[in-house]
Amino acid sequence: MTMYELIQAKRRGESHDRAALEILVQGITDGSVPDYQLSAWLMAVCFRGMDARETADLTACMAASGDSVDLSKFGTLSVDKHSTGGVGDKTTLILAPLVASLGGKVAKMSGRGLGHTGGTIDKLESIPGFRTSLSPEEFFAQVEEIGVAVVGQTGNLAPADKKLYALRDVTATVDSIPLIASSVMSKKLAAGAHSIVLDVKVGSGAFMKTREEGEALARAMVEIGRSCGRRMRALVTNMDLPLGYAIGNALEVAEAVEILQGGGCPKLRQICLELAANMHALAHDIPTDRAAEEVRDALDSGRALSKFTEWIAAQGGDPACAKDPAALGTAPCVKTVLAPKAGYLSAMDAERIGRAAMLLGAGRAAKEDVIDPLAGIRLAATVGDKLAAGDPVATLYTSDEKKIASAEAAFMAALTFSDEAPDLLPLIFSVVE
Ligand code: URA
Repeated sequence: MTMYELIQAKRRGESHDRAALEILVQGITDGSVPDYQLSAWLMAVCFRGMDARETADLTACMAASGDSVDLSKFGTLSVDKHSTGGVGDKTTLILAPLVASLGGKVAKMSGRGLGHTGGTIDKLESIPGFRTSLSPEEFFAQVEEIGVAVVGQTGNLAPADKKLYALRDVTATVDSIPLIASSVMSKKLAAGAHSIVLDVKVGSGAFMKTREEGEALARAMVEIGRSCGRRMRALVTNMDLPLGYAIGNALEVAEAVEILQGGGCPKLRQICLELAANMHALAHDIPTDRAAEEVRDALDSGRALSKFTEWIAAQGGDPACAKDPAALGTAPCVKTVLAPKAGYLSAMDAERIGRAAMLLGAGRAAKEDVIDPLAGIRLAATVGDKLAAGDPVATLYTSDEKKIASAEAAFMAALTFSDEAPDLLPLIFSVVE
């Protein structure tokens, strides 16, 4: 089948068979399909969609287009988690040691932040000495020994997706559920874990703006993973406001430590317990309510914190931060932002808050920008809080005083105050099994 015929078939709403998708992905990977034909095909997919079988086949072909990680030596215990991107999302720092403390094998590749969303690798690199690049031998030996290793993405995972995603970005074809689902899942399948828990974010700070869209994406991804032999589950969660109180790399590590020490933001704790329970249940093939009890016990007994300390030390980081996050350092310029008037804090736009943190130096506008690990925002109030004029709303941190004024303006523009108490949305909308 030629590329012309593939475009024509998709334009008519026909579905492609596996052989056609193999040819397509081969052509994307070796560069023989020109961008203009690929763009036309992508646009046809946006309008006509793809059925579940077709989406799973496309994903499997993209996952096989480059390197893959072989975690078969860990049997069914290897478990991964993926979030579709959020603001203040430090859950991996908590879940990885928590699930590993119960025998799960978390051999994880994570990314860096870009734009308003953060990346786990940047957060880990804010820990003095932490190495996010390990040789394959070191990586596997560490997972074998202590159950957890997290490194930056290496090798050539799903190169077909890399090309396709770059093209989608400039042809207004990103927001198609089969294209997002196959893109995310191709990388997760290549990363090798037997069980995968997805955190699909919905709201102002997320790709998916409505609960219905989030649930459709979650179902598509769960079906792909299942049809490729993985154990799957997805949580659909609210990203209308940042997750937890901290946005920014070292600040988020400190907040993760607070949770592992048994305290911290109750909503962040709740979502971590829920995600960890699903990861633990899948990895050990046990009922979710039993997994939830075991996960809570591992957190409350300090076992997860001990595992965190062991993990940080194993990758060369200063384990003192697990006892006292002050070991991470504090930014030299600090500004507390105050409520301009009395009232309820009724909304916080997560994306705008992510952008304000970026202006302070916590994130990158372009790939090559350098991060200020100590920069960011620590919220002192959250949606639903009743404030008096002059009450603290947040503290801004940066190493460059000149950045404060624009970041403060961007942060304030993200807040809505009202006289009435707002309706609060649940944190977790649903679980797709
Ligand atoms: N993240 C991805 O990796 N792919 C998409 O298509 C969207 C978000």
